[in-house]
Amino acid sequence: MILVTLPIESQKTAHIRLTLNGEATDVSFAPYKTLLEVLREDLGHTGTKHGCELGECGACAVLLEGKAVLSCLLLAVECDGKSVLTVEGLGADGKLHPLQDAFADLGAAQCGYCTPAILVTAKALLDSNPNPSREQIREALSGNLCRCTGYQQIFEAVEAAMIKIAGKTSC
Ligand code: FES
Ligand code: FES
Repeated sequence: MILVTLPIESQKTAHIRLTLNGEATDVSFAPYKTLLEVLREDLGHTGTKHGCELGECGACAVLLEGKAVLSCLLLAVECDGKSVLTVEGLGADGKLHPLQDAFADLGAAQCGYCTPAILVTAKALLDSNPNPSREQIREALSGNLCRCTGYQQIFEAVEAAMIKIAGKTSC
């Protein structure tokens, strides 16, 4: 039997256009790939982390149309025409997002592996509910595992960012 291996380029048969971190982006890839794989391997956006690939750790969360989703469970072909936000798109005008500042100030990122997903998930929460209770923050982040912090600093950082964002919008 003769085995023929197709060149990598000929395996890229799917093509989508999405808005990635505010920019129209075209990408071709093998059609079986997840959004996580396309972000990291085809678009070079390695901020989104690769964890369990089973929907259990939350490390791969990104925002799809403003809502947190697990990119390891989503085929990239399902994202055609949609908007995706990853941690690379959180800051603006050369400045960190208030959540990023608060995480740095309060030690909410230690090894940092869970941090990109927690940041975007917290952003989705604050966008939909600018004044969440501790319980609502805990609930929103309940799918994001962190092995380092014990979560206390993470909750405090989200609350600090919430106060900072509210201060800006009330001026
Ligand atoms: S990599 Fe663990 S939930 Fe996606
Ligand atoms: S900071 Fe290490 S897993 Fe969360």
